[in-house]
Amino acid sequence: MRLPALIFVAVLAAAAAGAGWLVFAPLSARTEIGSTSADVKRGAYLARLSGCVSCHTAENGEPFAGGVVLQSPFGEFVSPNITPHQTNGIGSWTLRDFSVAVREGISPDGEPYYPAFPYEFFASLTDRDLADIWAALQIVPEVSEPAPDHRVGFPFNVRAGLKLWRPLFERTFEYSAEDDQSRNWNLGRYLVEGPAHCGACHAPRNIAGGLELSEGIVGNSAMPGGGSAPPLTIAYLAQRNWTHENLVSALRTGVLPDGDVFGGEMAEIVRGNTSYYLSDHLNAMATYLLGEPE
Ligand code: HEC
Ligand code: HEC
Repeated sequence: MRLPALIFVAVLAAAAAGAGWLVFAPLSARTEIGSTSADVKRGAYLARLSGCVSCHTAENGEPFAGGVVLQSPFGEFVSPNITPHQTNGIGSWTLRDFSVAVREGISPDGEPYYPAFPYEFFASLTDRDLADIWAALQIVPEVSEPAPDHRVGFPFNVRAGLKLWRPLFERTFEYSAEDDQSRNWNLGRYLVEGPAHCGACHAPRNIAGGLELSEGIVGNSAMPGGGSAPPLTIAYLAQRNWTHENLVSALRTGVLPDGDVFGGEMAEIVRGNTSYYLSDHLNAMATYLLGEPE
């Protein structure tokens, strides 16, 4: 058994001995939702921006029907069907169920979600954001086919183990504006660290799959597929000759300053996500990542 598996089993065993109740009790959600907004257009854009569309739509599949396979050191996770189908989608859910799932990673039954669903980055979505995304999902055609199950072996298939993982390793990004920075910089920070979830790949993770955010988005040299995601620090990006202009252009088109194109997973992020971003949002992100333009 590999080291992450051993640690997970040890934690489960310790829990069974000392805190068994924690594993069996449903998780309780913090938030109530206070918005009645239903701006479908804004919601559809936010669903693009946050990767809900790209990560829940398989190639040649129906929108939001799931089936996208995500590699991880713990096995293969498969995104579920989130169309409004009553039994195999989320058609029986309330807006509150939805917001608790997306911002807190807790299912309507009080079960924890795996962090392959990057809910840790979605904690900063506002009530209005959630209500708008929810409204956009209501008009998606229902798909009756459930997505395939995760292909994750023991012990990671014991979902209750995540109840112990969470207090130790969960790192949610809760946004607050920095007063000495511009509005644009703050918007960029919100997007990069929050819903655009750049850190999901570009931040390091510990052996338990937990995000290590204390140093910032300093790169991940051990991506599940064996590759690496470079740092997104000012120093590194400057050394790579990124400028405000060529960064915005690369996130929009996938074409790099030297005429080459982004490889691997970054190409997919551009195709499915950042190529749809509003210019204002790309500009704000470049301002956050590189500093204020001259
Ligand atoms: C990187 C891929 C990824 C992105 C981006 C993503 N999801 Fe998911 N989502 C998943 C995976 C994987 C699961 C399954 C988690 C589990 O089983 O524990 C999931 C689960 C869910 C669920 C629970 C469904 C159920 O049947 O219990 C909802 C709702 C959901 N996602 C909505 C969203 C929304 C809304 C967004 C955008 C704000 C989003 N997702 C972005 C991968 C993703
Ligand atoms: C699904 C994983 C993933 C996500 C999410 C992701 N990236 Fe990347 N990114 C990568 C990988 C992998 C590379 C290396 C690509 C290559 O080798 O061509 C990369 C490369 C880059 C580079 C090039 C850096 C260099 O070496 O010069 C930039 C800039 C970048 N990403 C920005 C972003 C931004 C901004 C976001 C958020 C909107 C983001 N990435 C989200 C995986 C990801």
